[in-house]
Amino acid sequence: MNKLRAAITGVGGYVPDYILTNKELETMVDTNDEWITTRTGIKERRILKGEDQGVSVMGIAAVKDMLAKTKTDPKEIDCIIFATVTPDLTFPATANIVASAVGATNAFSFDLAAACSGFLYGLNTGASFIQSGMYKKIIVIGGDKMSAILDYTDRTTCIIFGDGAGCVLLEPTTEEVGVMDSILKSDGTGETYLHMKAGGSRKPASHETVDNKMHFVYQEGAAVYKFAVTNMAEVAAQVAERNHLTPETISWLVPHQANKRIIDATANRVGISSDKVMMNIERYGNTTGGTIPLLLWDYEQKLKKGDNLIMAAFGGGFTWGAVYVKWAYDGAKR
Ligand code: UT7
Repeated sequence: MNKLRAAITGVGGYVPDYILTNKELETMVDTNDEWITTRTGIKERRILKGEDQGVSVMGIAAVKDMLAKTKTDPKEIDCIIFATVTPDLTFPATANIVASAVGATNAFSFDLAAACSGFLYGLNTGASFIQSGMYKKIIVIGGDKMSAILDYTDRTTCIIFGDGAGCVLLEPTTEEVGVMDSILKSDGTGETYLHMKAGGSRKPASHETVDNKMHFVYQEGAAVYKFAVTNMAEVAAQVAERNHLTPETISWLVPHQANKRIIDATANRVGISSDKVMMNIERYGNTTGGTIPLLLWDYEQKLKKGDNLIMAAFGGGFTWGAVYVKWAYDGAKR
């Protein structure tokens, strides 16, 4: 019997309506469109506005989009994994909130925190559940409301990130498609360069933590850049090489959208041309867990059954990884 694999059989996505442009950021911090564009490739990002609007709002919209497109009954969903570092609450898991809201009453659900690599960690976890034969329909969501943890007086971080969420449906197949291989890595010493100082059990919220702006993203950008540019490129090349993929046989590079320069370096290392690199950083910025599923959502129409996709990410933790996926269907399911 052929090996059981986990195929991506549907994609959904959601970005909020509000567009925060580089021009508007110029009125908020000492920055300019030219600096942001040349250093990062970002032109605008989406922001989820309104009282009590958590990341679940975007996760729910993305899942509803996918369920409608694939005509899937939510009661058939076995499991929902939400990769996010900006959950609605510390507990319960945002995945539980999503499951109830979409009517996935038979699913178990949990959150997964691996920052910008979270979607790839979730994809690999969901695929393993499918490959084990235990489950038949798993939703993996990646998304973040980064605007909730950004200091809009800090020009080094607030220009980079945005809000958004995307998701995929995983189902078993015995065809030669689906999640084919993956390499996932982490290195806890990366905490020094990219973290949020308070709000966890080490330093719970207090007047002092709020006064000292300790509930925002802290990033030493240049140091993170150095690790990201090397490790993301290396792991993408490794997963391609060990599956005997060449620049000719790779259909798409699907890179985490943190910085256009990191994306270009990864494409160079893998040896593929820019027309095969999925990119939407100019419109959404870095949505952390959301970038890779939002790329699939944007490019779904162009994908064909049998396409070889190399997904790659690097982020807080540090965490990084690459996943080789053979696409399972033609075009968008609309
Ligand atoms: O997805 C999670 C993982 N994160 C990443 O992968 C991010 C990796 N890092 C980066 O993408 C880049 O390091 C940044 C985009 C964050 C920064 O770009 P950079 O080229 O590394 O700039 P830098 O931090 O070395 O700063 C260069 C200069 C500094 O001025 P001086 O000291 O040279 O006078 C900064 O103060 O640019 C200044 N600067 C700005 N200027 C205008 C920093 N931010 C801004 C800004 N506008 N927004």
